[in-house]
Amino acid sequence: MKTVVLAGGFATRLRPLSCSRPKTLFPIVNKPLLQWIFEELAVNDVKEVILAVNTLTQFHIRQQKLPKYGLKIKYAIDPPKMPLGTAGPIKNTEKIVGHDEPFVVLNGDILTSINYKQLMDTHIKTKALATIALCEVDDPCRYGVAELEKGNRIKSFIEKPAKGQAPTNFINAGAYILSPKVFDYIPRGKQCSIEREVFPLLAKEQKLFGHMFNGLWMDIGKPEEYLLTNKIILDRLISANKIKIFKNVKAEMPVAIDRHVGIGKKTVVGPYAVLGKNVVIGDNVQICNSVVFPDAKIGDNTTVSGAIIGEGAIVGKNVQVNNGCIIADQAKIGDNVNLIEDFAVCPAKEVSETILKRNIIC
Ligand code: GDD
Ligand code: MG
Repeated sequence: MKTVVLAGGFATRLRPLSCSRPKTLFPIVNKPLLQWIFEELAVNDVKEVILAVNTLTQFHIRQQKLPKYGLKIKYAIDPPKMPLGTAGPIKNTEKIVGHDEPFVVLNGDILTSINYKQLMDTHIKTKALATIALCEVDDPCRYGVAELEKGNRIKSFIEKPAKGQAPTNFINAGAYILSPKVFDYIPRGKQCSIEREVFPLLAKEQKLFGHMFNGLWMDIGKPEEYLLTNKIILDRLISANKIKIFKNVKAEMPVAIDRHVGIGKKTVVGPYAVLGKNVVIGDNVQICNSVVFPDAKIGDNTTVSGAIIGEGAIVGKNVQVNNGCIIADQAKIGDNVNLIEDFAVCPAKEVSETILKRNIIC
């Protein structure tokens, strides 16, 4: 099986953390999301992955030198300064994918345990042109929504319906099987959305099918979803006994602590804290429900709760980093600062005074 992973776009909802890294490289429990995706694809008998990206994302991915788990990795690059949307980049892979057999397409910002072989079986059985993996959610409005008929044929597909307008709670999980014929539905070198322009057309032609699945499914598109994904993976790792318990650290499990992390006296880590490589934490720090990216430093007597601290960021002493705060890469928070909930600091910016108004420092 060949798989196209869509990993371009702007990731606006994850700014300012996404100013300096693509969504697909956000660490989930200290491992880039794309590495989780590669691992999962390799156990699903996928042999070749085509990353549909822009040049900047390609640069970041290459720099990471991710393990490939035996997969052959190729790139299909969006034209300069012209993001192609979600269908344009698929068209851009036509030469690499070829016309021999159906292939998998995956959004690069989801973590899932979908069984791609089963998805492919459904696709072949129904003779569909496209088969969408569907899962059920409470609020479908920020996703693509499918209305199903007998035999799992999708009668209509509506991308991000207005509140109260979604016909069902079955949403596009961001994983499909496409037959090569679908290439003919997408214009070459133009921006095109598979969800808004191609799926509705295929539904009308009765060639679009759904495949319901249960199991792990997370979209890391928003900061709260990113934190929740880390929590869920921590829970899974702890129940599978795959988390190291550290001696000499006051840890309220589950927590994950990467290599070369320094933690001071009387500091409590967790529950639900992820500390990246080379992180240094002072004395008497409380850190819970948070992710700290590699090389960040947190000073004595500081509290971090429900926040994301970017790579190489420096948080001073006696600081309060409250729920929903995002401190982007290399940003600096001075001593004795209290950051109000949901406050965001852009990369390399400094904050030296307490912030009581909801805002973003850029
Ligand atoms: N190469 C490339 N070029 N990739 C892109 C571009 C682009 O211009 N724009 C977006 N992508 C990639 C993103 O990186 C992401 O992996 C994927 O396409 C989907 O884009 P998102 O921006 O994350 O879309 P969404 O989350 O709002 O909605 C999509 O995912 C939902 C499931 O998480 C849709 O497919 C929905 O129908 C679906 O329910
Ligand atoms: Mg998304």
